[in-house]
Amino acid sequence: MKKLLLFLTLCFLLSCQKEGSIMVIPVKESNPEITLTIERGGKTLYVADIRLTTGGDEDYCVPLDLAHFGAGKKDVHFSGIDAAEAWKVISLSDTAPEVPVDKYRPVYHHTPPYGWMNDANGLFYKDGVYHLYYQYNPYACVWGNMHWGHSVSKDLVHWEHQPVALYRDGYGHIFSGSSVVDTDNTAGFGAGAVVSFYTSYNTEREYVQTQCLAYSLDDGLTFTKYEGNPVLVPFDGIKDFRDPKVFWYGPESKWIMIVSADKEMRFYSSKNLREWEYMSAWGEGYGVQPRQFECPDFFQLSTEEGVTKWVMIVNVNPGCYFGGSATQYFVGEFDGKTFTCDSPKEMVKWLDWGKDHYATVCFSNTGDRVIAVPWMSNWQYGAIVPTKYYRSSNAVPRQLGLFREGGEFYVSAYPVEEICALEGESKDFGPVVASGATKTVGLFDSTDGAYEIDLNIANLPSGISGLRLVNGVGDKVDLYFDSRAGRFVMDRTESGVVDFGERGTVHEIENHDNRKTLSINYKNDFALATWAPFTVKGSHTMKILYDVSSIEVFIDGGRVAMTNLVFPNLPYDTLELYSDGGRLDITSIKVTPIKP
Ligand code: FRU
Repeated sequence: MKKLLLFLTLCFLLSCQKEGSIMVIPVKESNPEITLTIERGGKTLYVADIRLTTGGDEDYCVPLDLAHFGAGKKDVHFSGIDAAEAWKVISLSDTAPEVPVDKYRPVYHHTPPYGWMNDANGLFYKDGVYHLYYQYNPYACVWGNMHWGHSVSKDLVHWEHQPVALYRDGYGHIFSGSSVVDTDNTAGFGAGAVVSFYTSYNTEREYVQTQCLAYSLDDGLTFTKYEGNPVLVPFDGIKDFRDPKVFWYGPESKWIMIVSADKEMRFYSSKNLREWEYMSAWGEGYGVQPRQFECPDFFQLSTEEGVTKWVMIVNVNPGCYFGGSATQYFVGEFDGKTFTCDSPKEMVKWLDWGKDHYATVCFSNTGDRVIAVPWMSNWQYGAIVPTKYYRSSNAVPRQLGLFREGGEFYVSAYPVEEICALEGESKDFGPVVASGATKTVGLFDSTDGAYEIDLNIANLPSGISGLRLVNGVGDKVDLYFDSRAGRFVMDRTESGVVDFGERGTVHEIENHDNRKTLSINYKNDFALATWAPFTVKGSHTMKILYDVSSIEVFIDGGRVAMTNLVFPNLPYDTLELYSDGGRLDITSIKVTPIKP
């Protein structure tokens, strides 16, 4: 009798329990995608491709909150699987599934909470808050279902996740773009509205890629897609037409939009952000050839001497010297209509000499400061790096500067000064002289693998000299100067887990020093060394940011920047210095733990 009572009470309690609104979907990354739609009143509210598994062999579970669409279970439809079969493995819950800890998740770099992230996009600053949106697939750790994920920060180094800002819709995927703050209400959405531009991508339309806008009246938290979308289609039907960059051009009181159109950038202008007029095109034949242009950015920078120039960022994929994707830039003049590059067409300038620096774009509305955020991965292997519950991070935001050398203008990139807010207590290991032998400089207590190293180098020998970050199981990253060849090199061939990625194509192209370049010790797309041209000039400074699975190096205030991923089996905890004979003279080595 007692048992029966207990059973009946349990049944009663269970029947009282309300289902939550969050679909918990078991996903297996290697499964084909099936399509889920949310439909109401004959309208398609949402489309998502999910890698559902019904076999109990999921890699992880992902959430989809029906409450966001004001929808219920009955509004969800599947194609590619019987709904009853799907609901056998999908549950409805009040809470999103927990994301397991990922060994390689960085401590102080921005990452998505789970799922896949590529380009940073739509970056803007308003009322003391930096908004970082990003290309986001919430349903797998590989590319697909493009949404704009969203994070905010008051200092560019502490990031807080926000709800997804722009959902993929019936019209298409939400590709990259930019945001502006419309202080004077030129568009009519309201003074101070945040107006974001993105490419809507849909292979079933006449124009596969069109430019659309969405506006936000709550400072970028939620958006309304403009009913007059698309605001721009290509006049010649070109297929690759995307990643709109919009900015205010003060001298003519107008907005300008730059769109990457296959192998050129197209400039448009507008008075109201909604109607756009074609002005000019630039870029055909410039830089690495022939490469697909993506994710433009365009801004002014001044040298310390006060010379001001326009800088055009052109992300190319492929085209990186070391294979895959990378960020080029061009310096020149702009008259409000046309950009003219100062340098010859074949001159290539890289913003970063590593292999994991792509889709770099800058915040709008930051006054004279130009702050760039790179995606820290490469299209060659971004989807197969050995992380599991999330894929990809952003490099630390970098402040860009302009300097002149040998008659040419170059752009420097250096971590924003706000990073000092994360710094712990430094340990000083210098001065150290290495000549002919390896010197173990220090063991760091930091077991979480998150620290920065600042070096002042008084002398580099004429041969090879450098430093190695090593751990107790034989993994190492070699950072060295080859003064004779005029190179700074980062070699990650033995950095830890490197055996993923195909052996692809590394390009042999002339760099701006007219030297042929090729990656060194090339084993596959990942296991290689990257290098930058480097001329010894007496003393040098070097900053190294290490964060679990990435190394960013900045020499001489960012005149050389190099960003590479690494997947050590254990964090590197030891620093070694070496030279092949000559005197490597380092006056100070400061190691600072970085804590979020
Ligand atoms: C660059 C890019 C963009 C595009 C986005 C799609 O990485 O290819 O051109 O908008 O990714 O996710």
